[in-house]
Amino acid sequence: MSGANAAMARRSKESEGAKPLIRALKGEVGNRPPFWFMRQAGRYLPEYREVRARERDFLRACYDAELAVEISLQPYRRFAPDGVIVFSDILLVPDALGVPVEVREDEGPVLQPVRSAEEIPSFDQEKFQAHLAPAYEAVRGLGDAVGSGAAVIGFAGAPWTLAAYMVEGRGSRDFSWAKKWALGAPAGFQRLVDLLVEAVSVHLIAQAEAGAEVVQLFDSWAGVLPAAHFERWCISPVREVVRTFRRACPGVPVIAFPRGAGLHYRRFALEAEVDGVSIDSSVPPRWASSELQTLCAVQGNLDPHMVVVGGGAMAEEAKAILDVLAKGPFVFNLGHGVLPETPPEHLVELAEIVRRWPG
Ligand code: CP3
Repeated sequence: MSGANAAMARRSKESEGAKPLIRALKGEVGNRPPFWFMRQAGRYLPEYREVRARERDFLRACYDAELAVEISLQPYRRFAPDGVIVFSDILLVPDALGVPVEVREDEGPVLQPVRSAEEIPSFDQEKFQAHLAPAYEAVRGLGDAVGSGAAVIGFAGAPWTLAAYMVEGRGSRDFSWAKKWALGAPAGFQRLVDLLVEAVSVHLIAQAEAGAEVVQLFDSWAGVLPAAHFERWCISPVREVVRTFRRACPGVPVIAFPRGAGLHYRRFALEAEVDGVSIDSSVPPRWASSELQTLCAVQGNLDPHMVVVGGGAMAEEAKAILDVLAKGPFVFNLGHGVLPETPPEHLVELAEIVRRWPG
C-alpha cells in the first residue's frame, strides 16, 4: 500500500461509526451527503420570533445558555439536519474582549469603534473565558440534547471579519475604515489581528472542549480585501487559528467560509490547512469540484434566494449542485445564511431533496 493510500485507509478507519458530517469532512463519500444550513436558527422561524418576543435583547439571548439551546434545537426539530450549530454570534468575541456590542433591531450590530493601535484591548484569557462561559454551557447542553442524532457545530468569526466590525463599529458594505487601516498602517492593524487570532483560537478550543464536534470560521467579509492583501489578512490568520486549534483538539474538523474569495478560493484551500472550505453561490460547482475538492471537503452553495423562491426551480438547482459535488467529499449547505423572508416549508422540502438524492 502506498503512503497516501495507507493514510487514507487509516483516516477512514478512524472515522468509522462517526457522524456523517464528520466523515464527509474527513474526506469520505457516503450514500448521500450530509447537510445543514448556515443561519438555520433565526427570524424566518415563527418559534424563534416567539422566543425573541420574550427576550428582546439579542445578546442577552446569546448569553442565556438554556434559551440558546432551545433556539438551536428549533431547526433540528423542523428538518433534522446532520449538523446543529449553536445559537450564538460572532460578535460575542469583541464583546468578551471588552468592546461593548449591541444588536439593534433596525440597524444590526453596533460596537464601540477601535480606530488606532492605542485602542486595541489587551487579552485577559481568564476574563474572556469567564465572560463566554454561557456560550460553552450552551454547546454542552446542545450536545446532551442531540446525542447521536447530529453533530454539534461550534463557530467563530475569522480575525479579518471580526477586525472589520470592530474598526467600523457597525455593519458596512465595504468596511472602508478597516481597509484604510489595514492598507495604510499594517503594523498597527496586525496587532488587532494578532489579538483576534489568539481570542478566536481560545474560543474555538473552549467550544470543542464543551463538546463541539466540528467548528466553522466565518470570514464573511473576505471578499472586500484587495488581491495583494488577501493572504496577509485572510489566509494567514485563519491558518494560525487552525494550527493552534489542531494542536489542542486534533481530530475535530475545521470548516472555513471565506465568503466572496472568488479566485482566491483555490489558494485558500491550498494554504489555510482547513478540512473543509465553504463556498458562496458565485462559485461554479464544477470549478469547485476540480479545483477545491481535490484538496479538501467542499461545503455549499445554493443561493439563499433560491430557497425563498422554492418549488421546482429550487429543486432543480439543488440537484444540479448535488450531481456535481456529491461525488466527492461534500456537505450540502447554502451559499450564505438563510434569509428572514424564507418560508420554513421550503427548507423542509430542501432537506428532503438532499435526503432523497439521487432520487
Ligand atoms: O443558526 C445559526 O447559523 C447560528 C446563529 C448565528 C447567528 N449569527 C445568529 C444571529 C451565526 C452562525 C451568526 C454568525 C454571524 N453573525 C456572522 C457570520 C455569518 C454571516 O452571516 O456572514 C455575522 C457577520 C454576524 C454579525 C451579525 N449578527 C449581523 C450582521 C447581524 C444583524 C443582521 C441580521 O441578520 O439580523 C447579527 C444578528 C443575528 N445573529 C441574528 C441572528 C439570528 C438576528 C438577530 C435577530 O433579529 O433576532
